[in-house]
Amino acid sequence: MKIFIDTANLDMIREINSWGILDGVTTNPSLIAKEGTDTPSRVREIAKIVDGPISAEAMALDAESMIAEGRELAEIHPNINVKLPMCIESLKATKVLAAEGIDVNMTLIFSAHQALLAAKAGASYVSPFVGRLDDIGLRGSELIDEIMHIFSNYGIGTEVIAASIRSPSHVLEAAAAGCDIATIPYNILKQMVAHPKTEEGIRKFIEDYCKDKE
Ligand code: E4P
Repeated sequence: MKIFIDTANLDMIREINSWGILDGVTTNPSLIAKEGTDTPSRVREIAKIVDGPISAEAMALDAESMIAEGRELAEIHPNINVKLPMCIESLKATKVLAAEGIDVNMTLIFSAHQALLAAKAGASYVSPFVGRLDDIGLRGSELIDEIMHIFSNYGIGTEVIAASIRSPSHVLEAAAAGCDIATIPYNILKQMVAHPKTEEGIRKFIEDYCKDKE
């Protein structure tokens, strides 16, 4: 499973990239606003750090404007894909952008119907939001299972990005479902590294090694 980081923070991206495990980056308008910047300039900076797909979300609401904004975003760097929110207008825009060779990441996916339609329109990625489904008492990870099952039935090449990840367990559930990509916040990536028994083991090895030198 590919690992993306879900942030627009350059320090976090630099750090996780230095671990040697980073395949790409997703941003969204809320993450960009948190950094006090704008999408085009931030994704341009990110592309200098990470050699992999980077999602840049378009803010337009009608197909024609989404297409224009999508083309501008895609021109920034060959690794940029255009994130569009799932709706009728974005399906129309996806068809046009995909025909031009521009990758679309259809975001705010909350049902398998939406994922199927996005794939049919030509989206390169669909982003089901696991955590936000859990927030309303549903099981977000079941949606990943369902989409993976449907896509494999038909050999659909659209990659599935498990998004809105809130815990290391969400990552494991996505991996168990055979999900192509998980886009993971910085703090969850840190949690995935840590284990109390590993920390205890490191302490003990150092202690024993030092004792032996006395
Ligand atoms: C996906 O690409 C989104 O940026 C993100 O995962 C949303 O996560 P949230 O529900 O924690 O805001």
